[in-house]
Amino acid sequence: MDNNRNYDAQRPRKKVSRQTMRVRRLVALLVIALLVLILVILACKACSPKTDNKGGKDSKSKTTTTTTTAVTTTMPVPTTTIIVTTVPTTTEPVNNSDFKLDKYSFEFAVGETQMPRVLEHPEGSGEWNEMWSSSDENIATVDQYGNIKAVAPGSCQIILRDGGDQTQEVQIQITVIGSPNATTTTTANGLTADPQSTAMSAPAPAKISDPTAHYEGNTLIVNKSYPLSSSYNPNGLDPTCEEWFYKLVSAAAKEGINIFLSSGFRSYDLQQSIYNNYVNESGQAAADTFSARPGFSEHQTGLALDVNTIDDSFAGTPEAIWLENHCYEYGFIIRYPLGKDAITGYKYEPWHIRYVGSDVANQIHAMGANATLEELYNVTSQYAE
Ligand code: DAL
Ligand code: ZN
Repeated sequence: MDNNRNYDAQRPRKKVSRQTMRVRRLVALLVIALLVLILVILACKACSPKTDNKGGKDSKSKTTTTTTTAVTTTMPVPTTTIIVTTVPTTTEPVNNSDFKLDKYSFEFAVGETQMPRVLEHPEGSGEWNEMWSSSDENIATVDQYGNIKAVAPGSCQIILRDGGDQTQEVQIQITVIGSPNATTTTTANGLTADPQSTAMSAPAPAKISDPTAHYEGNTLIVNKSYPLSSSYNPNGLDPTCEEWFYKLVSAAAKEGINIFLSSGFRSYDLQQSIYNNYVNESGQAAADTFSARPGFSEHQTGLALDVNTIDDSFAGTPEAIWLENHCYEYGFIIRYPLGKDAITGYKYEPWHIRYVGSDVANQIHAMGANATLEELYNVTSQYAE
């Protein structure tokens, strides 16, 4: 190897003819000219104005831009319609009062309810002095607690005055849209997204092993007409129900709503002692309006939960309102809605939710406010005796 290298170093140089030198110079000139041309082309490309009218920044957008430019040169009217949702303004209206609220404007859908939180009252005043009214009850109504219900599409103001000093007044600008299903959300790329297409789907609960259980389709019915056997004891919540309950809890927490489990699965024996206590306290007729007899309670299924405060004070709280508006998104329903005592057999229980899965929960939701399982399946809820 070393020998070869020495041999090469000592080789005499070849003579190069003038003709060959000229050819070499010409080739070198051509290569330099080509390189200069390439550099000029690259520089021009870098300086040319961008035609991306969507403001896209990533390589995908650039590809789209090229296509769009080609189309617009031949067709001035774009053939693709881009639906852009207007994001509600977050600018706070002027508030010259001493009231401080958690929100001064919002949008909701027909049938939904909202309750703005009053964070501060005028000095020396409080909740007891709140006077709520609506500028247009055809669009939204409000009750004495500030519970606002969307009635029909449109805009109006909800007014909160202090009963003591009525110059203390704050207005909430609201917009009611058509229906919850028509609500659209704006995605990062500015296009609208249908919540149904991105919605999670809570599965129907597994069928239970009690042979006396009554099903309508895939839905277990337990009410005054359809009891479970005394021996049926799943010993805890149904796992799917429990999983979706905690999804609901996390979603609520992200909106500052604290939902917690107060009473879940109850065995036949536990329900017996609870019911007997109520009968002793209030008499059987009264107890039957709010407490199930043993064997007739949904809590024995492992598919029902009582949340937060299990008494009438829960009604109208932000938590109760959130549940009413959102529990169906996690496969739950408010099992004993307001005004349906004669149908469900029980007075209003805003804290009692029942897991039925998304299919049934969506159906009940679509039936409108306060719909019940009894109405969906056309079944009764009456004790046999
Ligand atoms: N409070 C409901 C009806 C129950 O006792 O199951
Ligand atoms: Zn309950």
